[in-house]
Amino acid sequence: MRLGVLASGSGTNLQAIIDACKRGELNADVCVVISNNSGSRALERAQSEGIPAYHISAVTHPHTLDDEICRTLEAYDVDLVLLAGYMRLLGTETLGRYDGRVLNSHPALLPKFGGKGMYGSNVHRAVLASGETVTGVTIHYVDEQYDHGDTLAQCEVPVLPGDTLETLEERVKERERVFWAETLHMLATQSRLTTRDDTGGAHCSR
Ligand code: GAR
Repeated sequence: MRLGVLASGSGTNLQAIIDACKRGELNADVCVVISNNSGSRALERAQSEGIPAYHISAVTHPHTLDDEICRTLEAYDVDLVLLAGYMRLLGTETLGRYDGRVLNSHPALLPKFGGKGMYGSNVHRAVLASGETVTGVTIHYVDEQYDHGDTLAQCEVPVLPGDTLETLEERVKERERVFWAETLHMLATQSRLTTRDDTGGAHCSR
């Protein structure tokens, strides 16, 4: 699998995916990294791994953003697009070109705690405020809405008494970094890249 990864922030999930490929746990390669944020650590991580990295945003490409993202992914012959902490919606050209081949990870059990504004720490803050005792990670197909497409895989993570925003976020992200590789491995071995109606969703509670 040739992977294209989009990320906005610190890029720890990107790093985990790169590392899983390097260790041979995943028969895949991260071929290109794109960020909407010029200061993203994800770009630095890619560069230090020798992976082509591009800052493509509404500032750098105010009228051609969707086209530029799509062309960049195509230029690297990407099979599967991963949104690993990417905080923007994708445009119709990219979604159309990679229909059924764009995945996002979300740090909660969708459909709970998803939607516009629900990203990163905001998600964990809402989970803590709700009093839920279980949260988790969802990897889902991407459509034109935030956190909305069909679920591919979910895993649970406990919310523990005394959790702070920081402890909960780190527990979820630690699980998420492993879960990406597990889910991609499942996809690769089951050849489920071309359709999304036959997946039925996978569930993992480890
Ligand atoms: C991850 O927890 C990811 O699920 C979340 O942002 C974090 C990025 O961390 N994405 C969302 O909340 C999208 N709705 P990272 O930059 O360290 O990989």
